[in-house]
Amino acid sequence: MSIKEALGKKKEAVEAILRSFLAEEKGFDRTGREAMNYSLMAPGKRIRPILVEEAFFLCCKEEEKEVLLPILHSFMAAIEMIHSFSLCHDDLPAMDNDRVRRGQDSTWAHFSEAQGILAGDALSLYAFQAVLETFQKEKRKNPALSRYEGRVLSALLVLSREAGIDGMVGGQVVDLEKEGQPLSEEELFFIMEKKTAALLRASLLMGAILGGAGEKVQDEITLYGENLGLAFQIRDDILDEISTTEELGKPVHSDKEEGKTTAYSLYGRERAEEKVEEYTEKAISALENLHREHLAEVCQAGADGDNAYIFLKELALYLASRKK
Ligand code: IPE
Ligand code: IPE
Ligand code: MG
Ligand code: MG
Ligand code: MG
Repeated sequence: MSIKEALGKKKEAVEAILRSFLAEEKGFDRTGREAMNYSLMAPGKRIRPILVEEAFFLCCKEEEKEVLLPILHSFMAAIEMIHSFSLCHDDLPAMDNDRVRRGQDSTWAHFSEAQGILAGDALSLYAFQAVLETFQKEKRKNPALSRYEGRVLSALLVLSREAGIDGMVGGQVVDLEKEGQPLSEEELFFIMEKKTAALLRASLLMGAILGGAGEKVQDEITLYGENLGLAFQIRDDILDEISTTEELGKPVHSDKEEGKTTAYSLYGRERAEEKVEEYTEKAISALENLHREHLAEVCQAGADGDNAYIFLKELALYLASRKK
């Protein structure tokens, strides 16, 4: 199976999981529930939940997998809720002012600016509700799950830290404050590392923690995510310049219109493309190091672990030349 086919299958599986976590569309607040679900179910690539799942299968011992699956699924839904919240707000008139997202009206353009803000707020909190409610429900069915409480709390800490002011939101603060101003390379990397790499890194780290990874594996997988995230954002900046709205599913030239300094505007196309390659190589070498140095730990995961390792390697290469 090609990586493209594998991604397609995994994306379908993620969407089935997301559907099981949707807010019920009823009551006087129905519009808010519809707006949350609209934002979450708009056709995205679902890279972050896929990363959570792969990191989990890379690290988790065979005998622990089944009992942790419902919790894993709640974390996969949670990271996509946080990501959708970030997109929902990123598109607002006060932010990037974009009316198209994932090939359809952005949430605020479909509903209203106020409902766009509220849908993002609601999704950011629903993510934590989804994990905690799932854990509570599963513990009622199987009290032995209490022994994984430490892992769940650590993974939630990662999610809150990497989504908030120490992560994605912090990056957005600087991205918006510096609009219309030239940026130093250091400032640009601060922004990219926070607004984008943080959630990719968090996805992998949450999956690894839930799977029971030790500190060294956690560090190495974080390094993979960090570099993957930088390559991902630089590619995003390139696509904003060279793609079309039809292909990308979001407006092109949005960065220029908003006066952003991006990897493309700072480096030019050729050097930006080299940077994508450079960070992709760094990501892959972190993964290879993890496999080589911590083989014994990771190998406990057996065949699933090997498949995840191969997939994560191919994914980095695929994303480096992605068209959307
Ligand atoms: C878009 O993320 C925002 C960035 C961090 C560049 P994705 O490219 O993963 O968006 P979707 O989820 O596939 O729409
Ligand atoms: C990506 O920034 C980061 C977040 C959305 C948090 P962009 O503004 O470049 O993302 P797109 O290009 O609108 O997807
Ligand atoms: Mg933005
Ligand atoms: Mg944007
Ligand atoms: Mg962009």
